[in-house]
Amino acid sequence: MTRAAKYLDFIHTGPNTLAGKYLRMFWQPVFCSHELGPGRAVPIRILEEDLTLYRGDSGSPHVIGFRCAHRRTQLSIGWVEGDCLRCFYHGWKYDGSGQCVEQPAEPKPFADKVSIPSYPVTEYLGLIFAYLGKGNPPPLPRYPKLESSDISLDAVRLDRICNYFNNIDNSLDNAHVRFVHGRHRETAGDEIVKGDPMISVAESEWGIKREVRYPNGKAITAYFGMPNINYLNGQVVDPEIKRADLLVFKVPVDDEHHIHFEVRSIPFTGERAREWLQRRREKRAREAANRAVLVEEVLRGRLHLNDIDPNRTDYVMVEDEIAQTGQGKIPDRKHEHLGRSDTGVILLRQIWQRELRALAEGQPTKQWTYRPDMIPTYPDS
Ligand code: FES
Ligand SMILES: [Fe+2]
Repeated sequence: MTRAAKYLDFIHTGPNTLAGKYLRMFWQPVFCSHELGPGRAVPIRILEEDLTLYRGDSGSPHVIGFRCAHRRTQLSIGWVEGDCLRCFYHGWKYDGSGQCVEQPAEPKPFADKVSIPSYPVTEYLGLIFAYLGKGNPPPLPRYPKLESSDISLDAVRLDRICNYFNNIDNSLDNAHVRFVHGRHRETAGDEIVKGDPMISVAESEWGIKREVRYPNGKAITAYFGMPNINYLNGQVVDPEIKRADLLVFKVPVDDEHHIHFEVRSIPFTGERAREWLQRRREKRAREAANRAVLVEEVLRGRLHLNDIDPNRTDYVMVEDEIAQTGQGKIPDRKHEHLGRSDTGVILLRQIWQRELRALAEGQPTKQWTYRPDMIPTYPDS
């Protein structure tokens, strides 16, 4: 691989890859908070690493290694005890730092000599974040508008069968909206912006600011936060909401899978929000069971988007998923033909390439900072 090609390898994100090292310099969401109750453990795979996520009885989440140090069974099948996790097979017990603290069947325990990996964890905006990098984690970026007591938050997770960079590229791509989301926009009666937009992009302290101007004079402002965050005001399939601020994280699972985590601002609170979220989550759980199947059927030519119920809560996501998985799990970018409408994609890749080069050469990478006045906008009418 030539040096330039190496810096362009955004695809592979395992622990020993350049992009993997870069992404590990940032906190990454790994799970939705509401999907992990106290006393539960689950296996997770993030950045090509298998890990165990559990929530202690106290409510604190922990991320430790995937396998028990004894005879390597999967730790997520074990039992949570207090803030520790006990292995299912022979009962070795680990605390949240990965330290083994009990070996029940050993006449002369050597637990103090046994530990497995562990990573810092925190919760924010309805998501569980882990820091999988080396050394002390950076401060967790905060988004004050989403902390407002006037709104509720709906944290969503969508598993997508393609490389995360298909979705990263999509963050800077407004030309797709007219085609990919045309049917939804018609159903929702969203005709505020129409036609093919002109996209202007500029590097910012956080990543890329983009302004999207439509032929009817309407304009949208949105922000991309390095390395894998999109902050926009976007479509939600729901008659009570229609549009919401969306903070999106595109997190690699491995080369051919990623998770699209999305935090949505819901413009009401209290009992109304609780009931709305419950209804929404029940419907979402039913839909999630067949989303990948529907997308696969479309790609195989057995269905078309028009055959899918436009009232699914994830309909906009299905539209994006079809387009992105349709590029191939790992697209052949050598044979792309980029144009003026790809100006955001081009800038994004240039910035990524620059940062990977700096990392590879031992130079400082840019310190990205979210500023609270970076608020996405969408015209009201
Ligand atoms: S494999 Fe975990 S205690 Fe034996
Ligand atoms: Fe989209």
